[in-house]
Amino acid sequence: MADREKLNLTVNSDNATVDADAGATLLTVLRDELRILSPKRGCNQGVCGSCTVLIDGTPQRSCLTLAVTCEGKPVQTVDGFDADTKMALLRDQFQQNGAVQCGFCTSGMLISAWHLLQEDGALSREDINAGLSGNLCRCTGYQKIVDSVAAASKEASS
Ligand code: FES
Ligand code: FES
Repeated sequence: MADREKLNLTVNSDNATVDADAGATLLTVLRDELRILSPKRGCNQGVCGSCTVLIDGTPQRSCLTLAVTCEGKPVQTVDGFDADTKMALLRDQFQQNGAVQCGFCTSGMLISAWHLLQEDGALSREDINAGLSGNLCRCTGYQKIVDSVAAASKEASS
């Protein structure tokens, strides 16, 4: 049986002390210990982006990140943006444009898109394609997602 260790994490502005397997990934701790289920376990090997969360303000694949390395750094999942205007714009646009089908990619996609929207000015479709290239979607063909991010970016910069 793996050794256990006590971790002190800050997730969505809440402090949490977790008893987890030594070597546990952040994704495992979020989902299996803290029961925060928005980051999805897709490939579990760094390919699909469905597990993307912000760590210290930067999108990272939580399936490749050791939870212990997140001590002292804020972790934010898509659940932690309730008062955020840009995330609200993105959510509205995803909904209006039908950019969510099965939803498996959506939380990771929104995290990456939100990070893109921190750039000044409206994003081009090329910027958006490049910025979302690490997030795979098996349902939508990407068009509606890119449309949504472009519209949110335009609104945010107007
Ligand atoms: S589950 Fe982490 S990249 Fe696919
Ligand atoms: S909506 Fe199904 S994977 Fe993107």
